[in-house]
Amino acid sequence: MSDARPTVALCEVAPRDGLQNEARIVSVDDKVRFIELLIAAGLREIEVTSFVSPKWVPQLADAEAVLARIPRVEGVCYSALVPNEQGLERALAANVRKVSVFTAASEGFVRKNINATIAQSIERFVPVVRRAHDAGVIVRGYVSCVIACPYDGAIAPEAVREVCARLSDVGVDELDLGDTIGVATPDEIARMLESCAEVRAMHELVLHLHDTQHRARACAARALQLGVRKFDSSAGGIGGCPYAPGASGNIATESLRELCESSGYSASLDGDALGVAARFIVAALAKPIGGD
Ligand code: HMG
Ligand code: MG
Repeated sequence: MSDARPTVALCEVAPRDGLQNEARIVSVDDKVRFIELLIAAGLREIEVTSFVSPKWVPQLADAEAVLARIPRVEGVCYSALVPNEQGLERALAANVRKVSVFTAASEGFVRKNINATIAQSIERFVPVVRRAHDAGVIVRGYVSCVIACPYDGAIAPEAVREVCARLSDVGVDELDLGDTIGVATPDEIARMLESCAEVRAMHELVLHLHDTQHRARACAARALQLGVRKFDSSAGGIGGCPYAPGASGNIATESLRELCESSGYSASLDGDALGVAARFIVAALAKPIGGD
């Protein structure tokens, strides 16, 4: 019998956001195996790595090696973060078909995270988006700190909408809204989403929640009610940003899947296989240093 429930898309970010903040360097073998297990669980969009400076994020210095080894499976989209043209060139050489540029709604975070102002970051993205599109590559635009910033404090929904509008102007295909430090309440998420929906329709926005205050699931539930149909999440709930002190893990893919199922939506994932993937990466992170 076919599944008539409306679907919710989950983009799996554990191989990138989940690992980038971990001091223990996970081996390429374990990263590749983890990605294979995520595919087996039904995930069809996976943010596999970042083409950033290896000095800034040592965990992801092996981006090329990971991309060279993961299986290319029909219907599975691998994406990667690129902060600038240098990152895009690396991504194109590694045959990535979707890239994510990233800025924020707060000056303090953009400065710490990519050493630029918001305006400079968006200027940098102009040639990145143009060249990506010329190569037939889809571009996601992340806006971080959509609720609060670890350096600048509370962020107004209008400030987030303004950055969304500027990213839209430079041509990003998808807007992704990040509660980087995981402090949102459902009401704050609703106000922020309603503001951003003036730039792009609610069902086209992506929500990226971290779970520091354990309200990410309640925030996702409110977003579902408002019409959001795509979320980022991380198997095992691992994650955090090295340049956002206090940020903890992303909302767990397992939790988001359960929320979708219990709210009448299908996330098209196999819960048992997802558990296997989550336990695998948690165990990989627990291996003693030098134990590979
Ligand atoms: P910079 O130091 O200002 O860069 O860093 P630069 O242009 O002056 O270059 C310095 C060196 O970096 C040079 O090498 C460049 O070649 C190299 P050197 O001459 O010293 O040997 N470099 C690169 N190397 C490899 N790949 C590149 C690249 N670019 C320059 N693409 C830069 C600026 C943007 C590079 C740096 O700040 C950076 O890499 N930042 C990344 C930080 C990061 O990855 N943060 C986490 C992701 S964002 C996040 O987690 C939030 C999110 O999850 C959503 C949410 O939760 O809200 C997405
Ligand atoms: Mg994040």
